[in-house]
Formats: sequence, C-alpha cells, structure tokens
Amino acid sequence: MRKILFASSEVFPLIKTGGLADVAGSLPPALCDLKQDVRLILPAFPDAIKAMAKTRCMARINMPQGEVKVLMGNLPGTQVKVWLVDYPPFFDRQGNPYTGPDNKPWHDNADRFALFCRIIVEIAMKRTSLKWRPDIVHCHDWQTGLVPALLSLEKNAPSTIFTIHNMAYQGLFPYSTFLALGLPQKLWSFKALEFHDQLSFIKGGLVFADQVTTVSPTYAKEIQTAEFAYGLEGLLQYRADNLSGILNGIDMDSWNPESDAYIAEQYSVRKVDAKKSNKKSLQDKFGLPEDPDIPLLGIVGRLVYQKGIDIVLQAIHELMKIPVQLIVLGSGEQEYEQALQKFFNQYPDNMGVYAGYNEELAHQIEAGVDIFLMPSRFEPCGLNQLYSLRYGTLPIVRPVGGLADTIVDATEQNLEAGTANGFVFTGDQGWDLVEAVQRALVLFSDKLRWKKLQLTAMWRDYSWDNSAQEYVRLYALTMKAHKTRKVRQKYDDHARLDVKQKVKKPDAG
Ligand code: ADP
Ligand code: GLC
Repeated sequence: MRKILFASSEVFPLIKTGGLADVAGSLPPALCDLKQDVRLILPAFPDAIKAMAKTRCMARINMPQGEVKVLMGNLPGTQVKVWLVDYPPFFDRQGNPYTGPDNKPWHDNADRFALFCRIIVEIAMKRTSLKWRPDIVHCHDWQTGLVPALLSLEKNAPSTIFTIHNMAYQGLFPYSTFLALGLPQKLWSFKALEFHDQLSFIKGGLVFADQVTTVSPTYAKEIQTAEFAYGLEGLLQYRADNLSGILNGIDMDSWNPESDAYIAEQYSVRKVDAKKSNKKSLQDKFGLPEDPDIPLLGIVGRLVYQKGIDIVLQAIHELMKIPVQLIVLGSGEQEYEQALQKFFNQYPDNMGVYAGYNEELAHQIEAGVDIFLMPSRFEPCGLNQLYSLRYGTLPIVRPVGGLADTIVDATEQNLEAGTANGFVFTGDQGWDLVEAVQRALVLFSDKLRWKKLQLTAMWRDYSWDNSAQEYVRLYALTMKAHKTRKVRQKYDDHARLDVKQKVKKPDAG
C-alpha cells in the first residue's frame, strides 16, 4: 500500500473557491478505493475546522514563527484522514482562503503558504511526532510549490508530484520576500525559484517535482506554448518527458440528479422529462416567466477573464432578442458583476443574476437550465461542463483544455455517430457565441434530437475510476524514477531553460 500525502490549499466540503477543492475532495477517496493510503493536508481555515465533526491535535511543531499544531479529523462521509495545519495568526481568517475582505490577496500570502509548505516538508521527512511517512507527496498548485523545491535539498526525501490546476496563478513575489522567507540561497536561480527577478512558488513544483501533471491532456499540450504558460512554456517543454495530462473526474454522489437533495425533482436517464419541473422551479426562484419552451441558459463560475465572461457580456443584447432566459451565478471581478447587474436591470424578465457563492443554487442551475454556457478563454479541465453533462444540460464551450477533451460538437456527423454531447465554437467574440446558441436552438426545437443529445451526455462515465487508476500508475512510475534520480539529474545537466520568452502578466495570486 503506497502512502500518499495529498497537499492542497482547498478541499471540498471543508473549504472551496473552485474546482481545485472539488478535485482534492473527490480524488483522495477514489485513490483509497484503489488501496492507496492517502492523507490530506491543508491549512486549518475556520470553515475547514467547523466542517469536520471533530478534530484532535496530533502534533506540535516548533517553527520560527511559533508553535504549529497538526489537527486530525476525517473528510466528511469518507475514511480519508485529514491533517489541518493550525497556526491561527496565518489561517484563522474567515472567508476566502487567499483574499481579504477587500478582495485583494492577503499581504502575507507568501509567509502563510511558505509555512504550510515547510510543515508538509517536516511531515514528509518524519521530523514530527506523526508516525506516518509518505512515499509520495502529491502537491497541487502554487500554494504547495515550495514543497518539491525544499524536499530536493533533503537526503532520502519522498518522491513528489506536482499537479497544475491553473497556470494563471503562479504565486509571484518580490526578491525581498525570498530573503524574508529565509529560503536557501541556492534556490535563487533561473533553474530554481527565480522568475524574472521574482520569487515564483509554482516554479518550485514545475522544476523540482519528479513528475508534473495537469488536469487534461489538451491543457498539458497548451501549457507548452506561450499563449497558455505566461513565460513558463520553455520550462514545461523541457519537462515534457515528465509532464502529462490526466482528466479530472467528478464526485458522482454529490453531483447526481437521481439523488441530489438540492433540486426540485430528482431525475435520471430514464426520466429526463422531470428536468422540466427543475426548470419551472428555477424560473420561479428568479421571478422569470414560467415558460417551458423558452430556452433557459445558465452560467455558474468565477467571474474572471478565464471564463470568457466578456464574451457573454458582448452577446447579451443579441441573446435577449432571440429571446432566451439567462441565469448567472458567480462572483469575482467587480466590473463583471456590475455589468451583469446592469443587463439584469435592463432585462429583468429574461435574466437572473446571483452575485456570490451558493453551492445549492449551483446544483439547481445545473438541473434547471437547458444549456450551460462555458465560453472559457482557457480551461485546464473544467468541472461545470461535466456536471452539466451528467444533468442532461448541454454545454456550449470553446475548444480549449478540458473542454476540448470532453465536449463533442453537435455536427451532423457527430450527431449521426451518436457521439455529440454539446456545442463547440472557436471564435472569441460575442457574435461567435450568439451563433453557437442559435445553432443549439435549432436542435432544441427538435425535441427528439435534443433528447438524444441529452441521453448521450448523461450516459457517459464521469467518475474518477479511470483517472484515479492513471494516478496510481503514475505514483508507481514516479517512485521508480525517483529512486534512480533520473529526473533531477537530467535537469541538473541541462542549462537550456528558456526564460527569455515574452512574459504575459498572469492573474494576481
Ligand atoms: P474553476 O476551478 O476554474 O473555478 P471548475 O469548473 O473546475 O472551474 O470548478 C468550479 C467549481 O466551483 C464548480 O464546482 C462550480 O460549481 C463551483 N462554483 C464556482 N462559482 C460558484 C458560485 N458562485 N457558487 C457556487 N459554486 C460555484
Ligand atoms: C482550476 C481550473 C479548472 C479545473 C480545476 C480543477 O481551477 O481553472 O479548469 O477544472 O482547477 O482541476
């Protein structure tokens, strides 16, 4: 039985801002089913402590900041053990784990996540009173990026895997932060943590992890290009032999229209027509005319550039002329929230907008709308299109990342072959989206063909079964490669890292 320390800054249902939490909450149980001994580790945010029925203190670790406790509990509804890194001055803050009440990143994020990483290293090296030592540390996103870097300096360290959920968030900080964190000077190099004179947390994972993965095969290719990697494409090309894309699965229990307690009427492939009462109830909730025939479109997601919200905004006037109804649930950039609110004021009979985070409503939208809009400009994997498919809600997407890997366009050929499960458009202008909606509506008006599409969407297996097995295979491979230290030697011998590429500014974080 392999021992895996699974490190993530968010885990559903303990604390969540996006898909990373969904993955960290559903992949570990799937790995346990495959006989892996998995421990989850995340910071002890107040919501996380509250969400666990009970916790007990398993270790006290002395760090320069003071004493850090490790609390242990269970991931609700599973056997997976969770360790919470408890240092109240850093983590006892309500709300979003990364940003303060002003929606800006906490000023001390580098200190907070560096401490998180250092505790993971202490546990991985068995220098605490915890009796469990991992064979592999599986890190996720920049908040855990220093772990592979710090472990590379240790003798007999466990193997490391770093999974990229989003290259737009790299954890960049000034050189002064590198100094203030007291990181070893040898890590200040373009072959290590330095990125154009800045400290890059994500590089710690990309450079030093034995294996790098990302969450879809297409994104694994995309991030080897300048458009998707923001200056790190050279490094990712260099790591190509140790870089792979494993498609995310979904939590088949939480997202199951047959048993979903949040929705008005439960349904399945055998009873798709019951979707109608979910549509009615959603229209009612948003005060929209209860018309079963008007197409109801929905969006759930972070309101950020990545999600193509600007494309939707450009399209709204034309969409309203068709007419359609549109419901948006999301939070994020203020300018998008305000623009949506303005459209809502103009089209109150056709639009519903909920600004904020609401898990229950997310389920009701997936169940109630006919069409899900996800015109992302980039999408490492995307989970909402998968939830949509499972709920017989057909997605309209752009062919990027995981969207390209999961949505089959309803062309005549694909319809004929019975593989179509949504609509794909390539442009990035409002009218491209309008055209795709119009194309979808031609089929929407043909009830039989629409139902066939819905059934194709609902039949597919979106569970973790296959992908969890791929991770298990990768764990085995990584441990073998780690033993021979092939990966790192290859890196050390190589001085060709192309960091001179044009740098695009990634999102904050
Ligand atoms: P990302 O991780 O880039 O935000 P994903 O599609 O992978 O995108 O996952 C988003 C997850 O977050 C889904 O579970 C989605 O339902 C959820 N989500 C996003 N915004 C909201 C919101 N405002 N309210 C409820 N759930 C949300
Ligand atoms: C990120 C990506 C999203 C992905 C999720 C889980 O937040 O933006 O595409 O589905 O992580 O891997």
